[in-house]
Amino acid sequence: MRLKDRVAIVTGSGSGFGEAMVKRFAEEGAAVVVADINGEAIEKVVGELKQAGHRALGFKVDVASRSELKELMTATVREFGRIDILVNNAGVVRPRPFFSMADEDWDVVLAVDLKGVFFCVQAAAEYMIKQNYGKIVNISSVAGTGASPFGGGGSPAGNINYASAKAGVILLTKTLARELGPSGINVNCVAPGFVVTPMTFTTRSKEQAETHLEARKKSCVMNRAGTLADIANAVLFLVSDESSFISGQLLCVDGGRTDRM
Ligand SMILES: NC(=O)c1ccc[n+]([C@@H]2O[C@H](COP(=O)([O-])OP(=O)(O)OC[C@H]3O[C@@H](n4cnc5c(N)ncnc54)[C@H](O)[C@@H]3O)[C@@H](O)[C@H]2O)c1
Repeated sequence: MRLKDRVAIVTGSGSGFGEAMVKRFAEEGAAVVVADINGEAIEKVVGELKQAGHRALGFKVDVASRSELKELMTATVREFGRIDILVNNAGVVRPRPFFSMADEDWDVVLAVDLKGVFFCVQAAAEYMIKQNYGKIVNISSVAGTGASPFGGGGSPAGNINYASAKAGVILLTKTLARELGPSGINVNCVAPGFVVTPMTFTTRSKEQAETHLEARKKSCVMNRAGTLADIANAVLFLVSDESSFISGQLLCVDGGRTDRM
C-alpha cells in the first residue's frame, strides 16, 4: 500500500477528479477527508468509501473562507490525528467574453481557484510543519499554461479569469515549495488536460461538449481524452513517498497537447 496510514484531505472531492482521488488514495491505505461545498455530494462519496471499508470523514467547506478551512483542519486532526496530504482540487469556471466579464465573474473564480489554494495551504501547513512532513498538490489546468484558440471545437471563448487563476496556481506552487521545503513538505502542481467531468457540462451543452471532446482528442499526441484514473494516478505518485525528492514542479497530464500558444 502506497499511502498506508496517511491522512489525506482533498478539496472538491464531492465529484470529478477529487472523488476519483479520495477513492484511489483510500485503496492505497489512506484515511481521507472529503471536503466540498456540496453537502449532498459529500454524503454520497463518504457513504461509498465507508461501504467499501475505508476510513473517511466528510466536511462541508467553502475554500474561499479562511475560517472554514481552519475548522476543516481542526476536525481532521481531531478525527485522524494528523494531516499528511493536501490536494487543492476545488475549482469553478465562469467563461465570459472579455468585454462582458463582470467583476463578480472575475472575483468568484479568483477567490475559489487561486485564493482558496493559498488559504488552504496556510491552514494545513501549520500542522505539517510540526510533523516535519507533508505532501501538497495543487490542481492547475492546461488552461493556465498557454492560451487556447477561442471558439475552437465548442470551447467557450473568454476564460481569462480561469486561465489567470490557474496560471497563478503554478507560481504559487513554486513559491510555496521554497517556503515549505525546509520543513519536509513537498509542494507540486498538476495541470490536467481535458477530461469529461460534471464541470464539462456546467458551461457547455451536450453537443458542444462532444465537439470539444473531438477537438481535444485531435490536439493531443495520445489522440484520446483523459480519464479520471489518469489524473488520480498522477496525483497519487506526487502525494506518495515515491516522489520524495520532487518539489516545486508542474506535471502536465494532458496526453501531450500540441496546441498551446
Ligand atoms: N475537467 C477538466 O477537464 C479539467 C481540466 C483541467 C483542470 N481541471 C480542474 O480540476 C479540478 C476539478 O475539476 P472537475 O472537472 O473534477 O470538476 P467538478 O465540477 O466535477 O468538481 C469540482 C468540485 O469542487 C467543488 N467546489 C466548487 N467550489 C467550491 C468551493 N468554493 N469550496 C469547496 N468546494 C468547491 C464542487 O462542489 C465540485 O464537487 C478543478 O480545479 C478544475 O479547474 C479540470
